[in-house]
Amino acid sequence: MRSERAGRRAQRARVVLTGAIVATLALTGCTPDPVATDNRSVEVFSWWASGSEKLALDALVAVFHEQHPGIEFINGAIAGGAGSAAKDVLASRMTNGDPPDTFLIHGGVEIDEHVEAGDLQDLDALFDELHLTANLPDAVLDAVSVDGTVYAVPADVHRANLLWANPTVLAASGLDPAADYDTLDQWFVALEAIKATGRTPLAVGSTWTQVHLLEQVLLSRLGADGYSGLWDGSTDPASPEVTAAIDDFGRLLTYTNADRDALDWQDAAQRVVDGQAAFTVMGDWAVASFETGGLGPATWWPVPGTVGVYDMVLDAFTLPVGSRRPEEASDWLRTVASHEGQVAFANAKGAIPARDDVSTAELGTYQRAALAGFRSDEVVLSFTHGSAAGSAAVATVSAAVATFTAGTTGTPELQA
Ligand code: GAL
Repeated sequence: MRSERAGRRAQRARVVLTGAIVATLALTGCTPDPVATDNRSVEVFSWWASGSEKLALDALVAVFHEQHPGIEFINGAIAGGAGSAAKDVLASRMTNGDPPDTFLIHGGVEIDEHVEAGDLQDLDALFDELHLTANLPDAVLDAVSVDGTVYAVPADVHRANLLWANPTVLAASGLDPAADYDTLDQWFVALEAIKATGRTPLAVGSTWTQVHLLEQVLLSRLGADGYSGLWDGSTDPASPEVTAAIDDFGRLLTYTNADRDALDWQDAAQRVVDGQAAFTVMGDWAVASFETGGLGPATWWPVPGTVGVYDMVLDAFTLPVGSRRPEEASDWLRTVASHEGQVAFANAKGAIPARDDVSTAELGTYQRAALAGFRSDEVVLSFTHGSAAGSAAVATVSAAVATFTAGTTGTPELQA
């Protein structure tokens, strides 16, 4: 049963916390918009507050207005990539009995935890009405279900394990922009060549993006099964492979911008777009930054060593217990689930639709390639984005990473 799996994941996450990762490695909110009191509005809580993420949310809201005219959209977004500030605000609102009408959530353990806390209404009836179950891939349905009951409507599927580059910077460093990086070791050679030119080889942002990077190195060195085993207990966190991955992570940090803690993921991606840095590692929500950056089609690869693996980040929306406008919130969920909503949102967000009855002809260039990958690759769940292990585990590893990276020098002399 899923709850047993979730319990095991949470237990294993606790094991990890006392294990080698933490041993080795040794959030700004603002008050959300006031909730309107009329009953033809809906407050949608997320962290898609600016840039391409806001534009993607706007695209979904446009479909919502077409499908449900007359319902005012109240944007409850709290800035901060990956929910780095929003999740704290949400927790406090849930504790204070002030839930948004619907909120953004990640599939997997994040949903398990909210169900366990009694925060979520089940959505079985809505899924039946929308015939949604039959139109979702198993990995997606499983990620929004607990004990066979569904608790969130999936909005999209993102891929976390991607490496993005500025081809002009690569060429100026004597590198072939079309070369592949099958292994971390090949990538290190390229990073060294870029460093020699005085540019920042790898742009990184604040702590959550550093945890995201660590996740990718673990996936690269351990493979899909070894990585997933960190969260179900079948991988020894004190194994030589984990230690080697942490060494690689430390080495990668020496190629990064020294001001990383002041940046969010958009700023790090912009450094690459602007040619100040060669690479960044980020999920495919970054594709819009590259596509609008004037560089032409985005240049990307699976993170070296992770070809054939799809590190899934699943965005979904909920119906919280205590939602003051459940009818309007359900209409929002109907739009999120709709074919039109999924296509508009995925194309703007850089994701693929969660529904599997969307034709590739409806999708952008990146999304077509991503869909083919999702259908053929081995799917694993992201740790950083709350799917593979519990929030306590993510918080503890994040604190350990912050401590570790604070003691690891970036490349201040390389700043443009
Ligand atoms: C993830 C989320 C993505 C994107 C990203 C950066 O957690 O699933 O949709 O928003 O954070 O903010």
